[in-house]
Amino acid sequence: MHKGKGMKFVGDSRVTAERTSQIPKDYSEYPGRTEAFWPNFLLKEWLAGSVFLVGFLCLTLAHPSPLEGIADPTNAAYIPLPDWYFLFLYELLKYEFASGPYVIMGILVLPGLAFGALLLAPFLDNGPGRRPHQRPIAVIMMLLGLISVSWLTYASAAHVDWETRAEENKPIPPSSVEIDTEHEGYAFYEENCMSCHGGELEGGGAAPGLIGIDYSAEEIADIARNGINTMPADQFTGSDEDLEKLVDFIITTNEQAE
Ligand code: HEC
Repeated sequence: MHKGKGMKFVGDSRVTAERTSQIPKDYSEYPGRTEAFWPNFLLKEWLAGSVFLVGFLCLTLAHPSPLEGIADPTNAAYIPLPDWYFLFLYELLKYEFASGPYVIMGILVLPGLAFGALLLAPFLDNGPGRRPHQRPIAVIMMLLGLISVSWLTYASAAHVDWETRAEENKPIPPSSVEIDTEHEGYAFYEENCMSCHGGELEGGGAAPGLIGIDYSAEEIADIARNGINTMPADQFTGSDEDLEKLVDFIITTNEQAE
């Protein structure tokens, strides 16, 4: 037989009508009600998914999440709070029946029951009806869940002053130290101290930064001459006059950084 003669084709001319395994199922018996999973349905899902992903990406870029300051283990006044979507679990722990000796209720039993019910929902209520009044168990469980989560979240959030809290815990931007290389003490700093204390007095290795230090001019001069703890003595061996200029450079840089 000549190629193409007397053959039936289905869309793709390389596939003959006899090769049924490659022909998508015919859904014309259910017009508008069903469609092929591959590729029709999957493509639509994927398209909708991408729109949401790109949308979230844009939102994230436009409104970065409001971060708090860096965790400070010495700050005993800071009360850590979970994010809003876990506040209801946190609030639960404030009730007497779910805290103290009964804390196992708050952390295990009640949340366990709630999530267990979610898991069992399809088995507890498996009638064929789709209207709410035909699914009383599922509807009651859903309402109970929604009401308790909303109430607990509200109760927890209502007595926190969120704006003050954000203001008190906002991140401190890194200070931008400007080095005045024109200062008459700069050359002495560069020559004698910079190798350890850094080009911007930021410190490095074993040497601490020199921004925000709490020493007087005399003390700094003394440290430059005699060292301190692990800093060796005689880092500065020039004249007292030059030392004064060097110390003044460190102090003015500190003042400017505040
Ligand atoms: C060899 C490296 C080195 C050099 C050079 C050096 N330092 Fe230091 N410096 C240190 C170290 C290490 C410490 C920390 C000492 C400690 O407390 O253990 C320190 C501490 C200090 C402190 C106290 C800082 C603090 O927070 O306690 C001052 C002030 C200081 N240095 C000034 C100077 C000056 C001024 C010069 C230049 C004349 C200089 N240092 C040169 C290594 C150095």
